[in-house]
Amino acid sequence: MLDQTILDADNRQFWQHVCGTKAAKLYGFDGDDAQSIGNFDRWFFDYYPYLRRFIPFNQLAGRRVLEIGLGYGSVSEALSRAGAILTGLDISPGPVNWLRHRLSLSGTPGEAVEGSALAIPFPDESFDYVVTIGCLHHTGDLMKSISEVHRVLRKGAGATIMVYSATSHLRWLKYPTDTFRYVRSVASGSDKPLPLGKDGRAEFDADPDGNIAPEVVVVSKTALARMLRPFSVQKIHRANVPDHPIIGRIPRAWRLESEGRIFGTDLYAIVKK
Ligand SMILES: C[S@@+](CC[C@H](N)C(=O)[O-])C[C@H]1O[C@@H](n2cnc3c(N)ncnc32)[C@H](O)[C@@H]1O
Repeated sequence: MLDQTILDADNRQFWQHVCGTKAAKLYGFDGDDAQSIGNFDRWFFDYYPYLRRFIPFNQLAGRRVLEIGLGYGSVSEALSRAGAILTGLDISPGPVNWLRHRLSLSGTPGEAVEGSALAIPFPDESFDYVVTIGCLHHTGDLMKSISEVHRVLRKGAGATIMVYSATSHLRWLKYPTDTFRYVRSVASGSDKPLPLGKDGRAEFDADPDGNIAPEVVVVSKTALARMLRPFSVQKIHRANVPDHPIIGRIPRAWRLESEGRIFGTDLYAIVKK
């Protein structure tokens, strides 16, 4: 049985390292100066080019926007630069302080707040848009975090929500039995996400010292669509591809446009309340 208090504490501890640090170290722009951060952001949006398609940056000027799960803060800062009235929320002080640092360096406005996606510390209908990429599947209660996103959106407002796919080619090839059992459970009406063991979690999220994220669940497109039923409009896209020693030699841009769109490791839901 999952103990939420312990998981929250573990998440707070694990994510202190600021997600993205591994890539920043690898490419040599892990400094805390404006130039290193700018280099990281350029790399980030080149590496995940579909983010510009799934987040409506150019429609958010003057809108109250909440990002949940900040990591390196590239999306938050891009939202602020696009003119959004930005609030960033994260369970761990590491990413919260990092966002404060980078916003003060660049002089872009916005606030960063510590708190959980499972109890968003804002009243009902506080926001015009929510962006949450790669966060809600770590919380321990995906359904509750989705209902929190719904609660803080005003009527007619939208959100971009990314969670990991249970039915990517990675999952089918490496864990065919688990994936088959999970798909069968969804077919028989269950919305319960699939919690991953140590190996599965390590493939998605490990820190630079090799520690593994305390909690990761994956979900199928069908189950996610059911969880998102409280929203009036929803479209779910598949995106992203895993690193691979052989297939990885194919240009990433090609892989994203073919493999990523069909079997992608991530599910991007674009929804409206
Ligand atoms: C994999 S990182 C994603 C960061 C960023 N959105 C990105 O795409 O690079 C997950 C982020 O979610 C945050 N997080 C984990 N559990 C959370 C929770 N219960 N509430 C709020 N944030 C949480 C972590 O601290 C971390 O910053």
